[in-house]
Amino acid sequence: MHRENVLTPADLIWPLFVTEGQGVEEPIASLPGVSRWSVDGIVERAREAADLGIPCLALFPNTQRERRSDDGKEALNPDNLMCRALRAVRDALGDRVGLLTDVALDPYTSHGQDGLVDANGYVLNDETVEVLVGQSLNQASAGADIIAPSDMMDGRIGAIRDALEDEGHANVQIMSYAAKYASAFYGPFRDAVGSRGLLKGDKKTYQMDPANGEEALREVELDLAEGADSVMVKPGLPYLDIVRRVKEAFEVPVFAYQVSGEYAMIEASVAAGAGDRDALVLETLMAFKRAGCSGVLTYHAAHAARLLHG
Ligand code: PBG
Repeated sequence: MHRENVLTPADLIWPLFVTEGQGVEEPIASLPGVSRWSVDGIVERAREAADLGIPCLALFPNTQRERRSDDGKEALNPDNLMCRALRAVRDALGDRVGLLTDVALDPYTSHGQDGLVDANGYVLNDETVEVLVGQSLNQASAGADIIAPSDMMDGRIGAIRDALEDEGHANVQIMSYAAKYASAFYGPFRDAVGSRGLLKGDKKTYQMDPANGEEALREVELDLAEGADSVMVKPGLPYLDIVRRVKEAFEVPVFAYQVSGEYAMIEASVAAGAGDRDALVLETLMAFKRAGCSGVLTYHAAHAARLLHG
C-alpha cells in the first residue's frame, strides 16, 4: 500500500538488431542472450512483445559492409534493411506494437561516425542534419511511429519536425536522445550494428562529457523548443541524477536507455555468480521509475515483462 512506484511491461521499450537473410539468428558475443534477427525473426519478436504488453520496439540495422559508404546514403534507401523490417512488422501486427527508429548514420557509414566527416574526420553538423532529415522521412514513410535522433547534431530536431509536418507525417512523434554522453558503455552495441571495427576516432565532438550535468539541461531545453515530444537520457543507471534533474526542470516524458554495456555488466555479474539475474533486472528497472522515467529502453525487456507477468 505504501509503494510509491510501479514497474509494468508498459514501461519497456525493446531494442532489437536486424540483419539480412531469412531464418537467421546471429548471437552477439559481447551481449550474451541477445541476437541479431532477420526480418522474419523480428516479426516473431514483435509478436512476442505485443503478447507481453511491451508497447514499443526500437530497431537497429546491421547494414551489410558493401552498403556502407562515406556519405551513409544507404540510410536514404526506401528498401534498406530498416525499412523492410518496419513494413514487415506493420503488415503482420498493425498497431499492436509501436515502432521507434534510431536516426544517426553510424550503421550506414564506412567510418562508423554518426554524421558526415571532413578530411580530418571531424563531424560536420549542418551537412549531417540534411541527411538526417532524409533518413527520418524515409523511416516515417516505412511506418515508424516515433523518430529517435541519437546523433546529437545541433538543430536536427527542428529540421526533422518541420520536414515531418511538410511531408504528411504530422502524427509521427520525436523522442530526442537529448542528453547522450560520450560513454564507454556503448561497446557491445557497436559490435551488434557492426560499427566497432570501423569506427575511426571517438564521438566526443558531438556526444556529451560525462563531467557535465548543466549541459544536459541546456540540450534538453533546445530539443524541446525545437519540437521534441519526449527526451532521452543515455546511458541509464550511471546517469539517473540527470534523469531526475531533467524531469524536475521540464516536466515532460523522460526516457532512459539502459545501454548495451549496462546489460553486459548485469550478465557478467550473473555469469560470475555474483548476482541474481531476475533480481538485478527488476531492481535496476525500478530505479529508473523512481528517478522519474516514463519508460526504459532495455535489452532485458522481454525477460522483465515475463517476470512481471509472474
Ligand atoms: C547510435 C547509437 C548508439 C547507441 C544507440 N544509438 C551508439 C553510439 O552512439 O555509438 C548505443 C546503445 C547501446 O549501447 O546499447 N548513434
